[in-house]
Amino acid sequence: MLKIGLLGCGRIGQVHARSIAQIDKARVSAVADAVPDAAKALAKTTGSEVMSPEALITSPDVDAIVIGTPTDTHYDLIHSAARAGKAIFCEKPVDLSADRIQDCLKLIQDTNTPFLTAFNRRFDPNFANLQSRIAAGDIGEVEIVTILSRDPSPPTISYIKSSGGLFRDMMIHDLDMARFLLGEEPVSVYAVGSSLVDPDIGRAGDVDTAAVTLTTASGKICQISNSRRASFGYDQRVEVHGSKGMLRADNMLENTVEIATETGFRKAPAQHFFLERYEAAYRAEMVHFVQALVENVPMSPSITDGLNAQILADGAARSLELGRPISVG
Ligand SMILES: NC(=O)c1ccc[n+]([C@@H]2O[C@H](COP(=O)([O-])OP(=O)(O)OC[C@H]3O[C@@H](n4cnc5c(N)ncnc54)[C@H](O)[C@@H]3O)[C@@H](O)[C@H]2O)c1
Repeated sequence: MLKIGLLGCGRIGQVHARSIAQIDKARVSAVADAVPDAAKALAKTTGSEVMSPEALITSPDVDAIVIGTPTDTHYDLIHSAARAGKAIFCEKPVDLSADRIQDCLKLIQDTNTPFLTAFNRRFDPNFANLQSRIAAGDIGEVEIVTILSRDPSPPTISYIKSSGGLFRDMMIHDLDMARFLLGEEPVSVYAVGSSLVDPDIGRAGDVDTAAVTLTTASGKICQISNSRRASFGYDQRVEVHGSKGMLRADNMLENTVEIATETGFRKAPAQHFFLERYEAAYRAEMVHFVQALVENVPMSPSITDGLNAQILADGAARSLELGRPISVG
């Protein structure tokens, strides 16, 4: 039985606790949070022990650590956990600085630490199916990928200010999806962005509406469209066009009922946000993490995937600043 320590008992920590509860070969043995009541509440539902983050990391009752704390704490926690010899499941983004992720990468390699970067969308049954069909050659050579990714509503301005900006906080998922589907590293990134949803987001130095074009060395293209608002729910769609056809994954709706009247056809809104939309993906990524540890095989996405997505996010931010495409890679 793999004993997992959860660092951070907030939104995503609770998601991971629910996933672990459904896996036979693993259990949550300890939880820690900067807010004692948050840790106590999750300890109660998981039947685990409350510890300080330091005690959890070095506890003999913990084999692997899930880092679900705010992004600016990941770097130190990764360092402590790797030095303590624990396997690491780290929430995205690994850090907001590519240089600091490089430091973590070196330590992970030096200590031979199993590490998963939690890009959950790779585990979404629809997107995973789409990628496996690309890999099987079902649409021939990939030519152009289109990723549409829009949140139902923007986060608070205080979150925006500490988030690292839309490219590093939100689009990082889509930049990883682009790499996953293109099967080739982008060499150029061109970003445009505006604050159309909330002018306060602009005043906080960020954008809430953005489009990015990535190009690979062989000329494959990916277009990403992001917004912090979608009036019809969480908009998560992907289309891949190739030499022999096209693959498309549509939104997951709240239900599949369609009504037709004299005014036309109508369906339910898209599932509200990531907790509902990616429930199966979160579970599958945790199953993968546990299975890889139990069977002692490599896990993916790796910390290098976390770094490469970060380099693209940094490139997008720089491209927006300079108003021209940026070379990356
Ligand atoms: N993969 C995804 O879909 C997804 C979704 C949401 C959040 N995230 C990522 O997960 C991380 C956490 O986000 P969240 O939305 O759950 O935040 P949150 O604020 O809901 O929860 C974070 C928790 O960590 C605690 N905490 C803060 N510093 C700590 C420390 N040093 N040690 C222990 N606990 C500490 C806080 O008290 C809080 O309870 C972020 O990196 C975020 O980018 C990923």
